[in-house]
Amino acid sequence: MDLNGKRALVTGGAVRIGRAISEALADAGAEVIVHFRSSEKAAKALGPNVIQADLDDPAQCENLIQKASERFGPLDILVNNAAVFHQCSLRESTQEAVLKELQPNLFAPLTLIREFAKQKRPGKIINLLDRRITSHDTAYVPYMLSKKSLEELTKLAALELAPETTVNAIAPGAVLPPPDKKDDTTWEPAGVIPLDKRPAPKDIANAVVYLLETDIITGQTLFIDGGQHLTG
Ligand SMILES: NC(=O)c1ccc[n+]([C@@H]2O[C@H](COP(=O)([O-])OP(=O)(O)OC[C@H]3O[C@@H](n4cnc5c(N)ncnc54)[C@H](OP(=O)(O)O)[C@@H]3O)[C@@H](O)[C@H]2O)c1
Repeated sequence: MDLNGKRALVTGGAVRIGRAISEALADAGAEVIVHFRSSEKAAKALGPNVIQADLDDPAQCENLIQKASERFGPLDILVNNAAVFHQCSLRESTQEAVLKELQPNLFAPLTLIREFAKQKRPGKIINLLDRRITSHDTAYVPYMLSKKSLEELTKLAALELAPETTVNAIAPGAVLPPPDKKDDTTWEPAGVIPLDKRPAPKDIANAVVYLLETDIITGQTLFIDGGQHLTG
């Protein structure tokens, strides 16, 4: 797909990795709609096309695609980037704790993909996963369940929505410390990275652009992690 003039919705697109994706899509000529929950100022700094929704609220997830297309026109591209990342062991994983992670990380992308597909026009979807999906990180049980399930959803959606729409995923390695840890100098180092360097937000954004531009790949996950998924 030639991204020039295509309309793209990037969830959580105002800051950090989402911001790099929004900027890369705009650089490729796309008309980017930046979704935000709380980062309104950062979203508006990227351009006039912004839209607010709290993805913890199923009703707001249901409406987001329709609201965006009514305001800006039909969408060609959906990037499910917004997510939360909470430390939570199995013993702490109450149903409430699990749902708190699954709602924004899995149910919101599922709803947005379903609503995007109702537009009945060719499209491209990218889901943001995590290189941890090849491992079993017991410190983040609800998060792991959300991202592993989102990988499966990527494959199911790729089959269901072919041939009109491709659905792929990016699994980043350790790009940025979580937002609440960014000033914490004791935050855990990335761990063993075979290529010995952390990916930058721009590396993730470049991979998103690649998967959007190609028309022959669907149902795939691209690890942008310096080989870290190989280390378990
Ligand atoms: N950072 C990394 O190193 C890393 C590693 C592996 C995978 N990833 C994945 O890559 C993606 C981007 O990572 P990131 O670290 O840049 O993400 P992030 O900063 O933790 O979150 C991105 C945005 O998600 C939005 N968001 C969170 N909960 C929301 C909700 N309930 N409703 C609406 N928006 C909500 C927030 O938007 P507002 O600011 O507007 O509230 C937030 O800025 C995520 O899917 C993440 O899981 C990141």
